[in-house]
Amino acid sequence: MKRVLVVDDERSGRRVLQIMIEELGLSSIAAESGEGALEHLQNETVHLVLTDLKMPGMSGLQLLKEIRASDTELPVIILTAYGTVQTAVEAMKNGAFDYILRPFDADTLEAVIRRALAFRRIEIENQLLREQLEEKPETRGIQGNSAAIQEVISLISKVAPTKSPVLITGETGTGKELAAQAIHRSSPRKSELFVALNCAAIPSQLLESELFGHVRGAFTGADSPRPGKFEVADGGTLFLDEIGDMPYDLQAKLLRVLEEGVVERVGSNTQLDIDVRIISSTNRDLSVAIAENHFREDLFYRLNVFQVQMPPLRQRADDIVQLAQVFLERYCSQLGKIPPTIRPDTARILETYAWPGNVRELRNLMERASVLCEETTLGPRFVRSLLPATMSHETDDETQEDGLDSAVESLERRLILQALSKTGDNKAKAARLLKIAERTLWYKLKKFGM
Ligand SMILES: Nc1ncnc2c1ncn2[C@@H]1O[C@H](COP(=O)(O)OP(=O)(O)OP(=O)(O)O)[C@@H](O)[C@H]1O
Ligand SMILES: [Mg+2]
Repeated sequence: MKRVLVVDDERSGRRVLQIMIEELGLSSIAAESGEGALEHLQNETVHLVLTDLKMPGMSGLQLLKEIRASDTELPVIILTAYGTVQTAVEAMKNGAFDYILRPFDADTLEAVIRRALAFRRIEIENQLLREQLEEKPETRGIQGNSAAIQEVISLISKVAPTKSPVLITGETGTGKELAAQAIHRSSPRKSELFVALNCAAIPSQLLESELFGHVRGAFTGADSPRPGKFEVADGGTLFLDEIGDMPYDLQAKLLRVLEEGVVERVGSNTQLDIDVRIISSTNRDLSVAIAENHFREDLFYRLNVFQVQMPPLRQRADDIVQLAQVFLERYCSQLGKIPPTIRPDTARILETYAWPGNVRELRNLMERASVLCEETTLGPRFVRSLLPATMSHETDDETQEDGLDSAVESLERRLILQALSKTGDNKAKAARLLKIAERTLWYKLKKFGM
């Protein structure tokens, strides 16, 4: 919930403003002087300041200048009487968000407050978008017709409308973040923010302040107050990526926030109510982390109300060509090229490869193919040249060049992958399907580096 600091030397003025603000569904605190206001700002979390201009001691204009010296972002609205409009204009030049002429009515006050809070939100949103743009230019839906991915899509559509926490598991590049975004976009929160925080990418000392924010001076280097991702995501969705890498002691704090629905910025004792939907993701096996005392079991149960398991790409070979086509079209259209068609023999190569980097690896390969391909079709030799070196002797169009052994190996490999795909990566069942001993299957998997 957003918090407004009202500054007015007159008691009745403060009361009226506080009542009006609380009727807007915001919370408020009050100070009777500029000095008092600064003290509040030092210790508490505030999202907006509403100050009278003329006060004994520090004036509203001086207060504004003091605030700006340490915080360039906090919106300040000036209340002024007709006679002092000139000073209000000066306040605008010094970074006030707006001024309101006294006497004013509730509607005017509401309009200005909402505009200030929305403006701040748009600024934060722009910043987030800029951060996200670097890694992911595309936010389209989850592609694929395989039974495995259709099951995921169906589960997502069931959990999206709720506020329940969702844990998304899966290997790297399987689309965990894409799934998290899909849940947010199909939820009633879709017009609010989707905020992602990668717990593995941030040094553990900074992670707490990233999550919960901090007040000025909370630690060395905290020169200005900052909201945490929880506050920024208020009303929306917070995506905690790589949750398995969160330091153990921070996990307890996170659990408390989730249980109580309130956050405190580091160094502050103000409790802010927050309404955030939590989606977390991990590519580690959390049950192992729990057994090794690296992950709290109570937090796991809290996050794992629903679990969405993203299947590895090798287990949904049916999707590979479709995905390849989608990516080819996407990158070629960016380049102003007509996408090449995928030949059937090329499709077989793509379907046989094990894709350890999953969809991301396929996407990157298609990006390279889009740039480099000069033909109207995507040929097997060309695609092979783009795959890692270990793959370069594994295609069956190479029978004549590379001899029988290599061709047989390639066929074996393909049949093994198909069997694993059909059995959901179950080695015992796959071996039975192939009519070989499970031990032989293990041996071949190792030999082919699969
Ligand atoms: N089913 C899919 N349809 C279309 N694009 C997909 C699909 N799955 C993944 N992608 C794309 O693949 C790339 C990797 O996906 P994403 O970042 O969601 O993976 P991740 O599981 O979060 O990976 P990591 O564990 O490495 O963070 C993204 O560009 C994403 O858009
Ligand atoms: Mg990810």
